[in-house]
Amino acid sequence: MVVEAHGGILINRKVNGEKRKVAIKRADCLKSLTLSDWAISDLELIGIGGFSPLTGFMGQADYESVVNSTRLANGTVWSIPITLSVTTEEAERFQVGEEIALKGEDGIIYGTLQLEEKYNYDKKLEAEKVYGTTDEAHAGVKKLYERGDIYLGGPITLLNRPDHSDFAEFHMDPIETRQMFADLGWKTIVGFQTRNPVHRAHEYIQKCALEAVDGLLLNPLVGETKSDDISAEIRMESYQVILKHYYPENRTRLVIYPAAMRYAGPKEAILHAIVRKNYGCTHFIVGRDHAGVGDYYGTYEAQDFITQFENELGIQIFKFEHAFYCTKCENMGSAKTCPHDKEYHVHLSGTKVREMLRNGEKPPKQFSRPEVADVLIKGMQEN
Ligand code: ADX
Repeated sequence: MVVEAHGGILINRKVNGEKRKVAIKRADCLKSLTLSDWAISDLELIGIGGFSPLTGFMGQADYESVVNSTRLANGTVWSIPITLSVTTEEAERFQVGEEIALKGEDGIIYGTLQLEEKYNYDKKLEAEKVYGTTDEAHAGVKKLYERGDIYLGGPITLLNRPDHSDFAEFHMDPIETRQMFADLGWKTIVGFQTRNPVHRAHEYIQKCALEAVDGLLLNPLVGETKSDDISAEIRMESYQVILKHYYPENRTRLVIYPAAMRYAGPKEAILHAIVRKNYGCTHFIVGRDHAGVGDYYGTYEAQDFITQFENELGIQIFKFEHAFYCTKCENMGSAKTCPHDKEYHVHLSGTKVREMLRNGEKPPKQFSRPEVADVLIKGMQEN
């Protein structure tokens, strides 16, 4: 089954070879704007088609439609604004119609923007509509409030790629994962988003899903996360270890998702599903409190929200209830499959687990595979 990209066409805004050299030379003579790592990761995802059908940073019509109606202006489902913010002073340096070189904080030109629009936006409204809260203690809202007051919109070109050399072996673009699935003969593929080290509940829901499809794409987010999340380097090591010991090699692939985490719960679940469709997945897992943070979202709010758009998304959603190990079943399960009382269920909070790991203590093997715990303890003690 060849999965159509979201909106119908897999976008490619990269330029290669001689054309790229010329474009970089030209960009060197343009006025430049320095982007945060977050914005650079958005630029990359637009450029490689991960964010298809977007071809650039959103203009006002798309932005307002996404915020208010969870759709692009043309009606295509889209849940999170992909925008480029600047301060009012920065915005004044650029005229609509001009091309701008987009630099990283390292001075490298990563791409260009054909500036079509400059517009004001309402941060509080965006916070309320996208994150469901205006509380600046929310990690995503905090980021939003720190942004400049003007958005720049227009199509981009991707000229250089951020450095993913630490994960070179696991770095693939949507066009490449699509080819890989075809080569492997996988017709149905379930994508799994994660920003945490893989624990037994993750493994359980992934394997339940894998029982029903040909392959699993373990697709951890490796872009910016909040400071108390475990680093991508340590997590990547943990994924490799668990795959080696507990997963069938011919049915699983590990590929990075080089995006920043928004912690936008229900709205981000939709973005995550769309992106995995663009990477070629036919199915996507949404478990409990997907992309959530703190107590901002209900356990199944992301599932309920995505259900409203399921018919239009073009990727099937596997929804899983909160999974745990039951000492009476001696097995993983959920309220759907386990009849026993809570006292038999092994539950550990993320905070508790991090504390144990930092103290060099392994969480129970019903919660975390010992091989994974070893990697995490080593990683956390080195950091
Ligand atoms: S997330 O922010 O990327 O969603 P995490 O890496 O913890 O966080 O979760 C990855 C996926 O696994 C999400 O779909 C989430 O809903 C699901 N998940 C995590 N823990 C559980 C659990 N105990 N039971 C069911 N689903 C879970």
